[in-house]
Amino acid sequence: MSGGPPTRYPLPLRVLHWSLACLLAAQLLLGFAAEHWTTRTISEALLAIHFRLGILILGLMLVRLALRLALPVPKEHISRWRRNAKGSVHGVLYLLVLALPISGHVIWVWMGADRTLFAGIQMPALFIPPDDETGRAVAWYVHVYGAWTLLGVVCLHAAAAGLRSMREPAFIARRIGFGSARPQSDCNHGAPRVGGSFRYEADIASGQIRVRDRPPSTKN
Ligand code: HEM
Ligand code: HEM
Repeated sequence: MSGGPPTRYPLPLRVLHWSLACLLAAQLLLGFAAEHWTTRTISEALLAIHFRLGILILGLMLVRLALRLALPVPKEHISRWRRNAKGSVHGVLYLLVLALPISGHVIWVWMGADRTLFAGIQMPALFIPPDDETGRAVAWYVHVYGAWTLLGVVCLHAAAAGLRSMREPAFIARRIGFGSARPQSDCNHGAPRVGGSFRYEADIASGQIRVRDRPPSTKN
């Protein structure tokens, strides 16, 4: 690979994206199962796992956020409103995945539940619950409605990625996947690339890929 702009998210961000997607799916299932689909004894056992997994998700999310700010990410030549819409959806996802474990922790401390993570290591309480339970109620609303909102926004996000993949083949693999998806350019308006035995040009903004037998700028 040359030192040009990246066409894919860096490997650590891709690994974290998919690990967190799997952990979050499990975490949502655990939460809903504990609250709605099981008996009290099973619910308590599931919530104990939910607590540990939630703290792991918080840790991984903080690492992801730090790496996201430190590493270069692929640019896209899309219209400003699409870039803003996409950025907002990603921002909401980051916000929710941070707000859920924090609000969960607040509820957990208020419940006086066991905060052992593993091997006797305790998650610090970080606050002493006051007599007034307004904070607990707020945390509960954030947690429960946040969980449903996360589910909705993730579906929107995955649907948008899926739709885009239909217009631009291998979009998901090319941006955030693994393996050898051919890195078509996201930044080559009019700038042709050589691909296999033919030359092609991808205009991502209009969603078109044109095949050229000869790039315009290569006259000898
Ligand atoms: C819990 C599940 C998921 C969460 C929380 C999540 C979150 C995110 C976030 C925050 C980003 C922005 C990365 C950044 O710029 O820092 C992102 C990128 C991306 N995600 Fe997801 N994602 C999830 C599941 C999925 C699924 C199921 C798909 C595919 C069907 C997907 C496809 C993508 C793609 C293609 C990108 C790169 C978009 C781009 O070109 O900028 N994600 N995801
Ligand atoms: C990203 C991380 C998390 C996600 C996605 C998540 C998701 C959920 C979901 C879906 C529910 C069921 C909501 C409902 O009643 O419909 C729930 C409940 C709950 N979660 Fe989490 N959670 C996360 C982190 C945590 C953490 C870290 C803790 C504890 C430290 C926690 C403690 C709880 C508790 C105590 C409940 C029961 C709330 C009640 O009293 O109704 N959660 N969570």
